[in-house]
Amino acid sequence: SCAIIDPVLDYDEKSGATSTASADALLSHVAAQGLTVAWILDTHPHADHFSAAHYLKQRTGAPTGIGAHVVEVQKLWKKLYNCPALLTDGSQWDRLFSHGDHFRLGSIDAHVLFSPGHTLASITYVIGDAAFIHDTLFMPDSGSARADFPGGSATALWASIQDILA
Ligand SMILES: [Fe+2]
Repeated sequence: SCAIIDPVLDYDEKSGATSTASADALLSHVAAQGLTVAWILDTHPHADHFSAAHYLKQRTGAPTGIGAHVVEVQKLWKKLYNCPALLTDGSQWDRLFSHGDHFRLGSIDAHVLFSPGHTLASITYVIGDAAFIHDTLFMPDSGSARADFPGGSATALWASIQDILA
């Protein structure tokens, strides 16, 4: 069993078109390794790229998940981006994870930390002994995520980094 975390659609800035080459490469890898996709997981809603979770769900049938606070981001985006048709109940994903939630990935136990700061909905997936911390913290020479997106908070990011490191 495997999880796909933070898959994205390819985006052509000049034409505004999206494509699925990267997502299809993930599917090819899954097939070549004989894996079964158990989860498709987003760590946070992205203001700067597009999730391929929905596309991969269509191709694999695996459930999708994201942090429960995504509904607050959707309410922000609905207004900021003038998207009156955007549903703001998180129903685009199958599961909305809250801090402390547990789930299984095959034989491995996984749990969720709420890690706001980069976005107000960011979460960390702790799967076995690995923590998938998305943009919260980069390599030592690269620092931390930006916190200037709508709903971002440098103060919250600092607290989340302390929580992840602990
Ligand atoms: Fe991000």
